[in-house]
Formats: sequence, C-alpha cells, structure tokens
Amino acid sequence: MRKPIIAGNWKMNLTPVEGAALVEGIWKEIAGQDAVEAVVCPPFVDIPAVAAAIEKGSMSIGLGAQNMHWSESGAFTGEVSPTMLLALGVGYVIIGHSERRQLFGETDQGVNRKVGSAIDHGLVPIMCCGETLKQREAGQTEDVVTNQVKCGFFELPRDKAAASVIAYEPIWAIGTGKAATPADADEVCGLVRRTVGELYDDDLAEGMRVQYGGSVSPSNVDELMSMPNIDGALVGGASLKAPDFARLVKFS
Ligand code: 13P
Repeated sequence: MRKPIIAGNWKMNLTPVEGAALVEGIWKEIAGQDAVEAVVCPPFVDIPAVAAAIEKGSMSIGLGAQNMHWSESGAFTGEVSPTMLLALGVGYVIIGHSERRQLFGETDQGVNRKVGSAIDHGLVPIMCCGETLKQREAGQTEDVVTNQVKCGFFELPRDKAAASVIAYEPIWAIGTGKAATPADADEVCGLVRRTVGELYDDDLAEGMRVQYGGSVSPSNVDELMSMPNIDGALVGGASLKAPDFARLVKFS
C-alpha cells in the first residue's frame, strides 16, 4: 500500500543541458512504468531545463529540489523559496541532508521549519536523518535518529506530517560504496516508523514512506527493497547514470 519512491539526489553535479539529457536517458528506460515513483533532484539552476525536458517528453518523473528556505521571500542572500520552486513545477524537496547539516550548519530547528514550510506549500519533504560512524560505534544510532525525527516533525500537526517522506541515510554509507546491510537498514527504517507512530499514530506511521540512502546501487537495490520497512531509496552516485538509475527504479 506504500508506493515505492526512488529519488535521485544529483548533489552539485551536471549542467542544465547535461541534466536534461540525463532525465531523457532515464525516461527511455523506464517509460510506461507507474509502479514506482521516480524522482530526480537536480541543482537549482538545472531545474528549469529538467522541468522542460520532463514536460516535453510527457514523462511521469517527479521533480525535486535539494534544499529550500522556509520563507516565501525576503533578505536571505543566496537562498531559494518554496514559492520559487512551485513556480518551476517542483513537487518534492530534500530537507536536512547530512551534507547540509555537516557542511553548511543546518540545525534540527531549521530542518523543522523547512519541513513545515514545504508541507504548507504543498511540496513533499524528503526529510533526512542518519548517524555518523562514531555515533554508530558508540551505540548511539537509535538516540540520534529518533531525536532527528522528533525534532524534524516538532509541533507539526498530523494532517501535515502524513504527506512526508523520511530518508534514513547513515553518514558512513554515503558515497563510500559501503551500504548498510539490508537488515541494519531495515532495523533503523523500522525505528523511524515506530518514532513516527509515537509522534502521531500507527495509521500514519504505516502509511508513511521511509527510504534508505547510502551507496544504493544496481547490485544491492533488490535486496534492500525487499525489506519490510524500506519503501524506497535516496540515491547519490548511481542517480547520475541513466542505466543505473533506471535499474534502481526497476528493482525486483
Ligand atoms: P550515494 O548514493 O552516493 O552514497 O549518496 C547517498 C546520498 O547522500 C543521497 O542523498
């Protein structure tokens, strides 16, 4: 009953022309499928070109951004607002990726404001959580992830939260080629779901999609996606090659 969602986080890669070519290449391989929600999240400046390619090809591929500010406008140099994203046809937004938390000082409080604003504007937030290697080795995974989920949804009413996606991305698995084992990934995705159940209720938790992210590739996607608590993937490196990303969407 939870539709799988495979999202590509292109990070700071590809020009607008390259991005449009990538989405065209992906569509060639997945055209017609609707069992899985496929989403691409290009850099901001690539969004118009990718949106145009999606429209021209009548592709059923979702368009996401990698970040946004919570305000609609204002004196926030270098930021992009939810209304600007909506104007370009964006439907999803990654919030609180570990790279933004670690390299750009994003706080749980900022993540909470962004999640709330995304939902208020009708964007689907893909809220990221995940522990560092040090935290995992110290046995803190459960505390860290639970806390990030609770902070991300702090004081957000039930009807708003229901539209969200949560991505569990252990930081040690990102870009390392060392994905979490399906069992470990499933355990923490299950923890995320239980935490949502505690914040709201079981019904909402059962309906919410939880993705795993971190070195997802054509060679491990099938096993990861076979786990009961994993409803999708948030993918970096493998989302930049059309055949690889298409293979992820066509997991079996
Ligand atoms: P990789 O798939 O390159 O490990 O990146 C994961 C990620 O950070 C997606 O948001």
